[in-house]
Amino acid sequence: MIYLDNAATSWPKAPGVIEAMAEAMRTAGGNPGRSGHRLSVAAARLVYDAREDLARFFGVSDPSRVVFTANATHALNQAIRGLVMPGDRVVVTGMEHNAVMRPLRDLEAQGVEITVVPAELDGWVSPAALQAALGRPARLVVATHASNVTGTLLPIAELARIAHDAGAWVLIDAAQTAGVVPIDLRSLGVDLLAFTGHKELYGPAGIGGLVIADHFDPTVIRPLVCGGTGSRSESEIQPCDLPDRFESGTPNLPGIAGLGASLAWLSGFGLENIRAQRERIHAALLDGLADIPGLRIYGTGDVSRSVAIVSLTVRNHPVSRVGHLLDQEFGVLTRVGLHCAPAAHHSIGSFPGGTVRLAPGLFTTETDVAQTLDALRRVAER
Ligand code: ALA
Repeated sequence: MIYLDNAATSWPKAPGVIEAMAEAMRTAGGNPGRSGHRLSVAAARLVYDAREDLARFFGVSDPSRVVFTANATHALNQAIRGLVMPGDRVVVTGMEHNAVMRPLRDLEAQGVEITVVPAELDGWVSPAALQAALGRPARLVVATHASNVTGTLLPIAELARIAHDAGAWVLIDAAQTAGVVPIDLRSLGVDLLAFTGHKELYGPAGIGGLVIADHFDPTVIRPLVCGGTGSRSESEIQPCDLPDRFESGTPNLPGIAGLGASLAWLSGFGLENIRAQRERIHAALLDGLADIPGLRIYGTGDVSRSVAIVSLTVRNHPVSRVGHLLDQEFGVLTRVGLHCAPAAHHSIGSFPGGTVRLAPGLFTTETDVAQTLDALRRVAER
């Protein structure tokens, strides 16, 4: 089996993740921050350590600015619904996932104005296009760091500068980049970042987060969920303190432990080494695909301008058939269709048919690439 669906969720996970999750349940089984006994304290320590590592990883100095959520979708909803009100205007790129578009379309029905900045055919969004969209004031700009359809990296630092000059806040969706592209909130200049643990961070599903930049006032964000936080229990009013303001309810302790373990493993490997490995495999895939007649490849075709995600179509074959043949006859697992991102497919010209998406991961080998290319050649020849 060749697993090329790492953009949906990475597999296998980083060494040590499963063990750390089991260990957390075995030895730190208390409810973190709720009780004063040893199991609760052990759990709180584990959560704090992971939060501290993530703060360092994303370039924020205060660990309490890393808010744990169930996934990137939850973090994006928290940020968007927490910041935007009827009468506001939100500007987004034409490459956004439905984790951004669906909450926004829901808010549009309540009187929020949405402007979509057109993307180029390769998935890139030019700073000039954002500048043009910000001729009128906007409350918030939302941009994906890299597309989950084409892997195209957006020029986030420039987009953020333009948005801030126009007086808008900036939220980025780092679901496809956290763990493979160095991210420093200070140098990117963004206000809020949503990430997930189960993709490029090689952790478990069910854990992600919203990172709030050091300069950003968290009290302007309304909490999506209110409830028990283990703190200020005398009050029925949601506390303002971070991270409690946005972390009501018992957290996902095994998930946080697993994410902590994967982060430690990735840090040992080194982000430069990870990026180099991913670029090598990505380049081998693109080179080989270029030699197969009948394919249409989407995206920049440049490994330095995208993460390792390749979208393609095969002439005369619906994408569902290609995906089925790759899986059933050649053991190559991909994701086909619209990838929960109809806006991105509209932008690159692959709507409504969608694409076959090949998403190699950290454990994909050159042999896997060669076998995948051979499989695709045979499918295309039919
Ligand atoms: N958003 C995930 C994907 O792109 C699930 O497949």
